[in-house]
Amino acid sequence: MAPAMASNVTPSSSSSFDLIQYAVHEGHGVKGISELGLKALPEQYIQPIDERIDMKTVVEEHFIPIIDMSNLDDDRPDVADLICDAAERWGFFQVINHGVPIKVLEDVKNAAYRFFELPAEEKKKHSKDNSPTNNVRFGTSFMPDAEKALEWKDYLSLFYVSQEEADSDWPSACKNEVMEFVKSSDGLIKNLLKTLAKRLNVKEIDEEKEKLFMGSKRINMNYYPKCPNPELTIGVGRHSDVSTLTVLLQDQVGGLYVRKLDSSDGWIHVPPINGAIVINIGDALQIMSNGRYRSVEHRVAANGTENRISVPIFVNPRPNDVIGPLSEVIENGEVAIYKQVLYSDYVKHFFRKAHDGKGTVEYAKI
Ligand code: OGA
Ligand code: NI
Repeated sequence: MAPAMASNVTPSSSSSFDLIQYAVHEGHGVKGISELGLKALPEQYIQPIDERIDMKTVVEEHFIPIIDMSNLDDDRPDVADLICDAAERWGFFQVINHGVPIKVLEDVKNAAYRFFELPAEEKKKHSKDNSPTNNVRFGTSFMPDAEKALEWKDYLSLFYVSQEEADSDWPSACKNEVMEFVKSSDGLIKNLLKTLAKRLNVKEIDEEKEKLFMGSKRINMNYYPKCPNPELTIGVGRHSDVSTLTVLLQDQVGGLYVRKLDSSDGWIHVPPINGAIVINIGDALQIMSNGRYRSVEHRVAANGTENRISVPIFVNPRPNDVIGPLSEVIENGEVAIYKQVLYSDYVKHFFRKAHDGKGTVEYAKI
């Protein structure tokens, strides 16, 4: 489908067509570029060789665990062990029978499409320069100002503070469906945190701990449009999440790759499973568990034939929380390898730089 050219420049009529202006500042994003039907990837998106996904490094014989959450209901210790082992060994796993209705998942994927299908003019209202609230941010790539090469992704990022703020601030194209996803994943998140906390010697998650683990949430809707020369670029570069944990819904396209721990250059594909949800440990939980649970590097490939969407919920401490190894973890004499840091400072550090693998966590090392 040809995009509507509202302005007086078109890429073909003008050699001075400014692609960055078009994608980043006018709200067209990479979706807009994708729909121009260019034969070749614009040079701004060509990643250095080391940042591209080399299929030779993809390990075929390993999978991240798939865990049936319905078995956790009766406090079955074997399922709790599967969850904690996965958090230690892989940093990533998928859950099925997780209690989030399939309809809620379908609805939120459709809502994501509905938002990204809006005209650039509409989406631009939520950009960094125009959004009336910091709780809503539409953008493209990760940090266009900090990156040497841009990433092939558009996103809408929604910070969840309260139902009231979400009602007034979030775009109506997706507001209700995202809210349903947030609400109906709450039980799953609490079950996971309770289970993971037990192995950290935290017997009970009281109100204070609950706030520390999950006092704020950020929901992203990611759109990875079809890309010319996908092998030359990346959807999302190597990073670990700054969350406590992340609940990620992906569609059936695939393309998420996770670093295999204890291997210098092996990556594992996270296969899409209809109805499943991907869970990954974030830096905040790595720090609070003093390195026992691991936030693992991951990245997303661009795709030459299909558009892809994903919807992660980043379950986070509150910005004003101070995070560090939990007292329950170090009271048995374990030496703390991380210091206490203000969570908002940690997050700021993440957003100050381009994606750099596990670089952010160095900030909290003693
Ligand atoms: C992220 C992320 C993965 C995906 O948004 O942090 O890693 O599959 N997304 O889109
Ligand atoms: Ni991520």
